[in-house]
Amino acid sequence: MKVLRTPREMHAFREELRASVATVGLVPTMGYLHEGHNSLLRAARRENDVVVMSLFVNPTQFRAGEDLGSYPRDEKRDLAIAEGSGVDFVYAPEPGDIYPGGFATKVEVEGLTEVLCGSETSRGPGHFAGVTTIVCKLLNAVDPDVAYFGQKDAQQATVIRRMAEDLEFRTRIVILPTVRERDGLAMSSRNAYLSPEARKRATAIWSSLLETESVFDTRGLEAALQAGRQKLESAGITPEYFEARYPGTLDAADGNSGDPILVAVAADVDGTRLIDNILIEPSNPRSKS
Ligand code: PAJ
Repeated sequence: MKVLRTPREMHAFREELRASVATVGLVPTMGYLHEGHNSLLRAARRENDVVVMSLFVNPTQFRAGEDLGSYPRDEKRDLAIAEGSGVDFVYAPEPGDIYPGGFATKVEVEGLTEVLCGSETSRGPGHFAGVTTIVCKLLNAVDPDVAYFGQKDAQQATVIRRMAEDLEFRTRIVILPTVRERDGLAMSSRNAYLSPEARKRATAIWSSLLETESVFDTRGLEAALQAGRQKLESAGITPEYFEARYPGTLDAADGNSGDPILVAVAADVDGTRLIDNILIEPSNPRSKS
């Protein structure tokens, strides 16, 4: 496994590869790898000749006052995990090389980035502008045939798909299922912040989504959302949002169309912001009201 430290090195390596017929798979990450990241790496390994993982804690997607300074980092461990998962190249640039003096470009997806995590009462649309700008740069630098993302960050996945389509990236965007701990908590680098007590309470996030799914079939969407929110609040967790949206457009879902519904939640558990979601497939739309 080789570590590439600068955009220049990355571009040179990509030029070399162009001479061969190899397919390239890219897994963008901010490091502190867990099984969620690993599932993306393994899929990339199965499906491509060459696997590139990017490792970059992207400062522009953090709001002032968020956890950029304390975001967990352990490059040595990450490189060992990446090697174990069959990664060929790790692209790990420095912020100064990605955003040199005079850098002035922002890639912004409108609409989709103004709800859920993008609303002003949450991380704000600037968060997603940070994400789309870095993902755009990574797709340009690595020029992969396929890029892999997780359903855990459902809104991020929708926004990236939109950007890739709008800007005519030839990269295929693949979204893979959320990997969970045994008790259902979605794996996240931020879980490392949780105290044992908060870690236990955090399981209410997934159980509240399961509750929403089970109530939906019998009592419809409004009752389902209410039951989910209640379950969360009974564990002492007040959601920042707990909403039903259609996954492609992120329009508010009414539950009457029979289309799949994304129920997404963000919640602060003892100072740690966690997100999760569930995709509900209505089994019989006519029975809903
Ligand atoms: P990061 O949080 O490190 O996540 C990297 C990728 O792993 C994302 O596509 C994310 O959705 C996926 N992922 C995280 N937890 C997962 C889980 N439990 N199951 C499955 N997939 C999971 O997301 C980012 O980094 C950044 O925003 C990035 C796209 C790299 C841009 O900076």
